[in-house]
Amino acid sequence: MDRTNGLTDEPPAAYPTVPHRPPHVPAEEAGNRARAFHDLMARRRTVRDFSARPLPDGVLEWAVRTAATAPSGANVQPWRFVVLTDPERRARLREAAEAEEREFYGRRASDEWLAALAPLGTDWRKPFLETAPAVIVVFEVHKGPGTPRPYYTKESVGIAVGLLLACLHQAGLATLTHTPSPMRFLNEVCDRPPEERPAYVIPVGYPADGARVPDIRRKDLEQVMVRL
Ligand SMILES: Cc1cc2nc3c(=O)[nH]c(=O)nc-3n(C[C@H](O)[C@H](O)[C@H](O)COP(=O)(O)O)c2cc1C
Repeated sequence: MDRTNGLTDEPPAAYPTVPHRPPHVPAEEAGNRARAFHDLMARRRTVRDFSARPLPDGVLEWAVRTAATAPSGANVQPWRFVVLTDPERRARLREAAEAEEREFYGRRASDEWLAALAPLGTDWRKPFLETAPAVIVVFEVHKGPGTPRPYYTKESVGIAVGLLLACLHQAGLATLTHTPSPMRFLNEVCDRPPEERPAYVIPVGYPADGARVPDIRRKDLEQVMVRL
């Protein structure tokens, strides 16, 4: 296989390098810093009941910039974040999503899947797509006329979404990680080309007054970590 750039026998040029400048954390502070971040993240919850309170200026942009700092396979950065704030567009999104979800809950979902969802109390209704002041639709960007082939696309986009959720939470905002099934209708609602594949629908906002969340438990460290 030709692994050159086609012009010489040399492999493609490596990037020049720059000094790495990580934040300086004294070793004796590291545990406290890690714990403080844990304590912040442990309070993130998926919210399904939003208020219409507007978002402070600039937060969505910082959150998307943060997501876009994520590592990605071969640094292709295969993500697109479509930010919907226009009420008319969000009404279209809700209408299309609820049509798909009615099919999903009524016909397509297996009994096993419905049983797993039952304790969360979710159904075909998606009012949060209109009540939350913003919805971020995240697309995987695949090979297309102007975009290269990505590698480890799902993994890369998943990490970026993790950073997005963490940044919004840190800014005091609530999110819902929503994955309608199937999702192709989102290309039309968001005016995106076919090489962009929808992956997540993330309403963002402040929780409604008195919002409640399922009383779920997270696994203990001993259940998720193996030390060898
Ligand atoms: C990939 C993924 C897809 C999800 N899809 C949905 C969804 O379509 N609808 C929904 O209400 N919640 C969805 N959730 C939220 C989960 O139900 C929620 O994260 C889980 O119950 C744990 O609750 P917590 O986020 O409050 O810790 C999804 C979460 C993930 C990570």
